[in-house]
Amino acid sequence: MIKLPKAAYTSPEWHQAEMEHLFSRTWQFAGFVEDIQAPGDYITAQAGLNNLLVTMGRDQRLRAFHNMCRHRGTQLLRTTGKACKAITCPYHDWTYNLNGELISVPEQAEFPGLDKGRLGLHPALVETWLGMIWVHPDPEAESLMHWLGDIRDKVGPHRPLEMVEYPEAATRHEIKANWKIVVENYIDGYHLAHLHAATLNMYDHLKQVTGFRGPHFYFYEPLEKEYARNLKKRAPGPLVDHFTAEKPLGAYVPMLFPNLGITASETSWSIFHIKPEAPDRCVVHTRTRVMPASNWEYYKAEMRAWSYWSKSSGKYGDGEENDPMNSGDFMAEDIYACEQQQKSLTSPMFSVGATAANLESSVVGFQEIVAEFMKNRGVAI
Ligand code: FES
Ligand SMILES: [Fe+2]
Repeated sequence: MIKLPKAAYTSPEWHQAEMEHLFSRTWQFAGFVEDIQAPGDYITAQAGLNNLLVTMGRDQRLRAFHNMCRHRGTQLLRTTGKACKAITCPYHDWTYNLNGELISVPEQAEFPGLDKGRLGLHPALVETWLGMIWVHPDPEAESLMHWLGDIRDKVGPHRPLEMVEYPEAATRHEIKANWKIVVENYIDGYHLAHLHAATLNMYDHLKQVTGFRGPHFYFYEPLEKEYARNLKKRAPGPLVDHFTAEKPLGAYVPMLFPNLGITASETSWSIFHIKPEAPDRCVVHTRTRVMPASNWEYYKAEMRAWSYWSKSSGKYGDGEENDPMNSGDFMAEDIYACEQQQKSLTSPMFSVGATAANLESSVVGFQEIVAEFMKNRGVAI
């Protein structure tokens, strides 16, 4: 049964503890490798209480630092940018080179005995994997490969670096629900055939194969038979050709602990990044890669698929134009369900009556992992 208290989904204290003990101590997704192409390009990323920046040095190496001036702590860079020669703080113009060394302090005579060599940017860790940039605020943390461990064999056969980003497919959703509600929804194998009866019926949900490798969750399900037979006509884009006998056609949907989902299907490879904002609010960013193909090929595939799928309609919708349950969009359905669940969490009557032995073992398993993680770091549960 359920392993986390209600407060884990509603209280500011839990949110703060997760920022400090969970998100400040795990590897966090920061971007795609294309986001930093040349020396001086940079991105920033939040890792719990830490804002980090990643930039490429003149030696083409990526480096991560805490995005914080060593003078009086002002945040240095905002979001993303290109080709800065050096990093200058907006407040008093202290300037750092791309290796994080403090190289210039205006009116330096005002700081007698200042040792610039001691005031470089605080270092953090950065690594890349499958075309993704990951960061960790602790320069002594275990490597990303060690953290991911065996889950790397379970994320699907897709080779994202041979695919191209489809920028128009990127989405950003503000969701009025705790980030764990969204993770639980992402890994819940029970709702697929119900909430998404009209939108995800191209997969055979009862053949799902799931489990955990360390704290990370894996999920695979094959295509539904008729869809598989008519795949060329119905697929909404050129087909991924990376599947093998060991890793066959289907949907691979892992959740890398704590908050990065991957959705790798017959036509695309996407990330689903869940960013906690408040006890009852999070933001989800998605970015998608597809097979390299001409616009014309995409247009043809989309039109073919649209003429087929537009004949299916939502399940519970009452016909209103903005009804998420009538949108034909599984993401809108998920957001609706998550927000409806969050609403009930503040009711004194809220409880979980039962959980499905197999199809919801993922949800229970995830809660156990979070509870264990927090307990191990001294947080009272
Ligand atoms: S706080 Fe950055 S230069 Fe003063
Ligand atoms: Fe869903």
